[in-house]
Amino acid sequence: MPYPITITQTDRKKEKPDSSCLGFGRYFTDHMFVMDYSAEIGWHDPRIVPYAPLALDPAALVLHYGQAIFEGMKAYRTSDDRILLFRPEKNAQRLNLSAARLSMPSIDEELFLEALRTLISLEKDWVPRERGTSLYIRPFMFATEPYLGVRASESYKLVIVLSPVGAYYAGGMKPVKIHVESRYVRAVRGGTGFAKVSGNYAASLKAQEDAHAKGYEQVLWLDAIENKYIEEVGSMNVFFKINGEVWTPPLHGSILGGITRDSVIHLLRDWGIPVREEKLSMEDLYVAYTRGELEEAFGTGTAAVVSPIGVLGWNDHHMVINHEQIGELTAKLYGTLTGIQYGEIADPYGWIV
Ligand code: COI
Repeated sequence: MPYPITITQTDRKKEKPDSSCLGFGRYFTDHMFVMDYSAEIGWHDPRIVPYAPLALDPAALVLHYGQAIFEGMKAYRTSDDRILLFRPEKNAQRLNLSAARLSMPSIDEELFLEALRTLISLEKDWVPRERGTSLYIRPFMFATEPYLGVRASESYKLVIVLSPVGAYYAGGMKPVKIHVESRYVRAVRGGTGFAKVSGNYAASLKAQEDAHAKGYEQVLWLDAIENKYIEEVGSMNVFFKINGEVWTPPLHGSILGGITRDSVIHLLRDWGIPVREEKLSMEDLYVAYTRGELEEAFGTGTAAVVSPIGVLGWNDHHMVINHEQIGELTAKLYGTLTGIQYGEIADPYGWIV
């Protein structure tokens, strides 16, 4: 059933930025999708309107108690000018998972997909052409009710904005320097780490700033109880290739179920490479490193797809992993995933829409 999404077109289209210097998340398209929720009538008034600031009551609950969640996905232009999405139904499902964790209302996943299709079709000229560039899609939901008591809001907004973005690695994929964080933690089991909650990212900034000051690009997060087991890297899931097997932390409550993470596990198993979704301690990783068994390490996420880890700084240890050169498996995963996303490699998994 088609959803009644109304469209109000802008009469002042913006000039599109030069696609060679897009960066990440700096430019926004001409239109956005908005939908409102109230406890009395549920979700209503799905609409596409000119991109503009949102009016918000200063007492809106999101500004005080942080009921806000988001998603991140991309639209890719193929060489024959089709526009592809990668597993968008997974983002719809995860948005609802995040909403449930913060006592926010669920959305109809079909309506969400229809909103994406309608908005991206309208903005199709904004999907950049160069290989490596894409249209980043940012759906987000937040509490709008003006009220200062601590409880779930009775009204919300769901908004989708679009941003043409550059290749994440302007100068090609480059191994990054990572500081193993032992003071701050990202998430606890029973908390919100498994959901795409805005506050998770706010809570990560201090450690990231401290790591920058020490000369690192990102942090490797350890578990909150024992400060021992590896959880995530920056805002990405993390993988290690040790002695021919690939390890990644299991989804036991504090780790985000990344769509790229899931796709990487699928590809690896398809290629006959054993994947162990098991706890891995920093000590065990260090032992593997000293034995020469730590072959590759990388993060996965929508923004960078696959990001190789070149150096890990842990206490006084300086662990160098493929610093000069990207690991073979890391490069193959990046090539395969982006190949599927840009429609250059056949998609046997039904991931492309
Ligand atoms: C990702 O796509 O890897 C992220 O989570 C980063 C995003 C928050 C910009």
